[in-house]
Amino acid sequence: MVSTTKVPGRFSPFIVDIALEMYQKGLLDFFMDVWRTYGDFARLQMGPITMFVVAHPDHVRHIMVTNAQNYVKGPSYDTIRKLLLGNGLLTSTGETWRKQRKLMAPFFSPIGIAAFDHIIISTAEMMIQRWREHAAKAQPVEMLDEMMFATATIILKALFSTESDETIAELRSTIEKMVAFTVNRTFNPVSLPVWMPLKSHQEYRQARQKVLAYIDQLIEQRRRIPPEQWPDDLLSRLMNSRDEESGEPISDEQLKDEAVTLFVAGHETTAQTLMFTWYLLSQHPDVANKIKFEADAALGNGRPTLDDFKNMPYTLYVIKEALRLYPASPIYARDTVADDAIDGIKIPAGSRITLVPYATHRHPDFWELPECFIPSRWEPQYEQKRHRYAYHPFSTGQRICIGNNLSLLESHILVGMLARHFAPKLVEGHVPQLRIQGTLTSHNGMPMVIRVR
Ligand code: HEM
Repeated sequence: MVSTTKVPGRFSPFIVDIALEMYQKGLLDFFMDVWRTYGDFARLQMGPITMFVVAHPDHVRHIMVTNAQNYVKGPSYDTIRKLLLGNGLLTSTGETWRKQRKLMAPFFSPIGIAAFDHIIISTAEMMIQRWREHAAKAQPVEMLDEMMFATATIILKALFSTESDETIAELRSTIEKMVAFTVNRTFNPVSLPVWMPLKSHQEYRQARQKVLAYIDQLIEQRRRIPPEQWPDDLLSRLMNSRDEESGEPISDEQLKDEAVTLFVAGHETTAQTLMFTWYLLSQHPDVANKIKFEADAALGNGRPTLDDFKNMPYTLYVIKEALRLYPASPIYARDTVADDAIDGIKIPAGSRITLVPYATHRHPDFWELPECFIPSRWEPQYEQKRHRYAYHPFSTGQRICIGNNLSLLESHILVGMLARHFAPKLVEGHVPQLRIQGTLTSHNGMPMVIRVR
């Protein structure tokens, strides 16, 4: 028997009451309260909008894997499509998505990303230098800025062969504004139209123009030189690609959308993960010591190679555990195509689904001491026994994050190389306040003093 009425949750004839609560509480507290109050599968009726809030791994599997064709990136992604990413890999659907994913998959495979090793390792070396200077000054630095600088450098070099520090810093802050503006609108059903003359709207429009102008200029510059002289980066590879059926090159619009998508999706998420990793290490010096010990044994004194990091499994457990506790995308959405049922509950066509990895990752049925930071839970003997969908920081199924291997590799190398020499300390008395601002972040920052070990 399929029913909708038995699902616990909230029912309001108006969109605005629940939307206002989302805005006041912030999306993270709002969805976590829904999970704690109504359990693993809750329904929010906001006027005509039906939303299901999903945390249980079985339901994650149903929506993202078993019946994935029924749960698509529909109207829930319209805001991101329209305001931020156009029709790039993250937001496209159907044939466009399939072709673009197939085209880009080899760049992001474990073999493909190994080609970026020199970019990542030299960025880590640059950060070691930078942190020596910070340590000498003994003043607090904002850890998110540090990590954004590192990850934006890596992605901009890999994508566009960009070298300039000023360009990297400017693009970064511009894109952050766009992301925060867009994601807050995505989950909040009542937002004023972007053309309205609000300060935030104006800032958003200016930011968008700046980013698109930058990418236009890069494409233009490249076209001015013969293709055989193009640098071997992702932009060149996309520009050189041809449609598998028509043989046509990628259109300028598609190229721009892909470039913005990869830059936006490819640096802030990893930077937030790294910021939380340093926070956790500052609170758990025993874990930080273990990384130092592992790095001393694995890395030797010269420039490390990719293979050296295979001998640093514990550092990777630490990253995975940081992503469990602080998934950079703590919520993501799907739209229901046709009527379906999950555990006997009817999911009407058109319903919105909010998946909450932040809750799944704290589910007491799947995680012992869920709030505790325990990197050893990632040892293979424990990982193999766990429900496969109890962990989905990169989402899961066919639309799993294409950058997941790259992000883990970057994080592994940056943390391994930096924690060997430094032990950043959280400023005394600072208590991070978690908030979704595009990605999961600490609303009041993460000020840390860089100390040499
Ligand atoms: C810790 C770092 C990262 C996290 C937590 C993360 C998380 C995610 C999540 C949850 C999705 C699914 C979004 C959805 O279904 O709405 C996603 C998709 C995606 N991510 Fe990531 N991501 C990370 C790093 C990266 C990197 C480094 C890149 C690229 C360089 C990247 C590129 C993408 C792209 C292109 C998609 C869309 C894939 C598709 O739909 O085929 N991400 N990511």
